[in-house]
Amino acid sequence: MNAAVRAVVRVALQRGCRPYIIHEGYEGLVQGGKLIQEARWQDVQGLLAVGGTVIGTARCKSFRERHGRLDAACNLVQRKMDALVVCGGDGSLTGADLLRSEWPSLLEELAAAGRIEPDAAVTHGHLSIVGMVGSIDNDMCSTDLTIGAATSLHRICECLDSLSSTAMSHQRAFVVEVMGRHCGWLGMMAAISTGADWVFLPECPPPLCAEKYGEDWQTEMCDRLSQQRSSGKRITIIIVCEGAIDTNLRPIRAEDIKTCLESRLQLDTRVTTLGHIQRGGTPCFADRYVATVQGVAAVDAVLRDTPDTPAPMIGMQQNEVISTPLMEAVRLTRQVADHINQRDFPKAMQLRDPGFAR
Ligand code: F6P
Repeated sequence: MNAAVRAVVRVALQRGCRPYIIHEGYEGLVQGGKLIQEARWQDVQGLLAVGGTVIGTARCKSFRERHGRLDAACNLVQRKMDALVVCGGDGSLTGADLLRSEWPSLLEELAAAGRIEPDAAVTHGHLSIVGMVGSIDNDMCSTDLTIGAATSLHRICECLDSLSSTAMSHQRAFVVEVMGRHCGWLGMMAAISTGADWVFLPECPPPLCAEKYGEDWQTEMCDRLSQQRSSGKRITIIIVCEGAIDTNLRPIRAEDIKTCLESRLQLDTRVTTLGHIQRGGTPCFADRYVATVQGVAAVDAVLRDTPDTPAPMIGMQQNEVISTPLMEAVRLTRQVADHINQRDFPKAMQLRDPGFAR
């Protein structure tokens, strides 16, 4: 996200705009004061190699309420700010779109209460919103890669490589839980990239061969793993996404997989939960690059924006930076969850990532 902040500030300056940094996410927008600061070129130096976000982020309850959004609008108008570039997941981006849609009525209410100039609703008629997607989960439809996902995947691969030393030496099995909320992208990509033996995904519950195994995924997994062991394999790595479920939508837990491997295959098994390790550290090249080129596109989208066009979201498709209607991307993303809840897993997979589904 730091690369995104740096790019947006510098491109905005270059295009003749006055950029501000809002610290601590929507909390800063609501509180104002020192949390909103004009940004100079040198304020964003040295950020490309820094993980996380130096400007801070926070889950903000009050922004979900109208009184919070009134304070936010007041802070924006007082500083003559007329555009917001928001980097976050679908919740943050939906909040931004709501602020934009309520903008005229928020200003009328503020003017009536004497908090801003009476004619502000006319002079500040429109708030431009541009979304950038920051999430390690890579769970937003309409973009191939969200900011943070590549670094997280890289970190997971490093961890799996490290675990394989013990696994190989002791002939052990490891069940490794990875993040991703309800999205299996991190788990799937990590499995492919490290040659893991099995992966449990939210969008594609086991068994893979339902004709043979019915709902009995434990037997399917054990059959395959014991074949591998019989042919001389010393290590077993199983990745379980935190949102992994079975076909009845019941969570699949790492501890249950461990019990299964120990009781059925007598494998010496350990569970490792990677946790927040996978959310931090030095960003990989892909995140620095994607966040930078998207930051350029975000400022250009602000400059192009009109009240009549839907708020755009900047993303990547087939290695190209794209701009797509923000709420359409959010709508599709929510549909994935609906398909999973209706147990229509192929449709969930198709929507999540058509390439992945193929
Ligand atoms: O959405 C990013 C994510 O890291 C998820 O993968 C995970 O489920 C969640 O956030 C963890 O949130 P917290 O840091 O609040 O525990």
